[in-house]
Amino acid sequence: MSAATGADRLEVAPAAALVGELAVPGDKSISHRALLLGAVADGTTEVSGFGANADTLATLAAVESLGARVERLDESTTRLRVHGCGLRGLHPPEGSIDVRNAGTLMRLLPGLLVGQSGSFTLDGDESIRRRPVDRVAMPLRLMGAVLGDSDGLPPLHIDGGGELQPIGYELPVASAQVKSCILLAGLYAVTGPTTVIEPVPTRDHTERLLRAAGARVARGPRTVSVWPVERLQLESVAVPGDISSAAPFLVAATLLAESRLFVRGMSTNPTRTGLLTVLERMGARINLFNRRTTSGGEPIADVEVHPAELVATEIEPEIVPSLIDELPLLALAATMARGRTVVRGARELRVKESNRLETVAELLRAIGGHVRATDDGWEIQGVPSRPEGGRVDAHGDHRIGMLGAVAGLVSRNGVRVEGASAIGVSYPGFAHELERLAVRPW
Ligand code: S3P
Repeated sequence: MSAATGADRLEVAPAAALVGELAVPGDKSISHRALLLGAVADGTTEVSGFGANADTLATLAAVESLGARVERLDESTTRLRVHGCGLRGLHPPEGSIDVRNAGTLMRLLPGLLVGQSGSFTLDGDESIRRRPVDRVAMPLRLMGAVLGDSDGLPPLHIDGGGELQPIGYELPVASAQVKSCILLAGLYAVTGPTTVIEPVPTRDHTERLLRAAGARVARGPRTVSVWPVERLQLESVAVPGDISSAAPFLVAATLLAESRLFVRGMSTNPTRTGLLTVLERMGARINLFNRRTTSGGEPIADVEVHPAELVATEIEPEIVPSLIDELPLLALAATMARGRTVVRGARELRVKESNRLETVAELLRAIGGHVRATDDGWEIQGVPSRPEGGRVDAHGDHRIGMLGAVAGLVSRNGVRVEGASAIGVSYPGFAHELERLAVRPW
């Protein structure tokens, strides 16, 4: 067998190509948001294409514990019916809300809870407890909300239901999670607009879904404003395929010389497609066709990938938010590209599920790459041939686990990934799909 899973280990052998068709699970960011907005909507929301994974199932459990009933309409939990509690109808659960490993849940849910009556506590796993929550607590306090954290870290306590004032808030770092939290709280303010000013535009799924639910949302070049609402109503949300889950396959198919890969129904939201922009700049051959828009207002397309020889590039701070979760894979592509790649403006990677500037550099060096982590990115000296391979550790981070697996496919000797179960945080079927598409003539 080419990919063996031990208790928590994945062995990925080299492959000649990725060939075939793939439909990736529903977008994680949109799946979280569909549940959260569905929970405070009036009536029922039908969600299709839901991406069921450890993170989004934490959100499902959270909204249920707050009083929203969620019907699973099929076995794989891709179709859900959420019975909304109304804008102010969530109730404190018995104990604390366990967000597990889900940073998006930890940062978005407070925006709704400040509008509910009662006291709430949000807590999570070891990794979540190391990730900052003051970035949402601070603006919510400016609105008048009462929150307590432990030196900027979880657990986060919220005394909800007080009067909230609208704010104009300039984000100190580009973060869709922080933006979304403030916009959600703005729904409960005594008047509008509540405005977020972004240094660089970030993913806009919250804005699109709020509009679809009937909220007034206005967008300027660097600002987003929301007005208070009486009610939200979302009849149906079709969740597109997650570009972040497609990314390992897009990169592997580009790097493996005999590949031909099709991905169906992938999100092409322009705030998320920085990976495609940069890969194309490096020489990749990725075509989008059959472009369409989902209910919920998200653009999607089918994708065709042919292999290509890549050249180095520079990744500038302005494009970073649109490829933030794909940067580890771009770093792998850069280790196999001709020339020296520099990535800047990505300091946020230090506060993801692991310190990704360090864990990516460590992984790529372990397989034979020439990578140096800088304060806010990497310097990568590419060598246009297969890296050797070796043993790597996922460090409890799903994106590092998937990076290790792709590294195995494109390596000379294969890669053993320790801690590979972390991949289930966003893509439980990942290893199976990788093996289904991998071609190994040897
Ligand atoms: C997300 C936003 C990003 C991203 C995360 C999901 C979201 O985080 O890294 O995986 O759903 O809003 P930041 O907004 O903190 O950059």
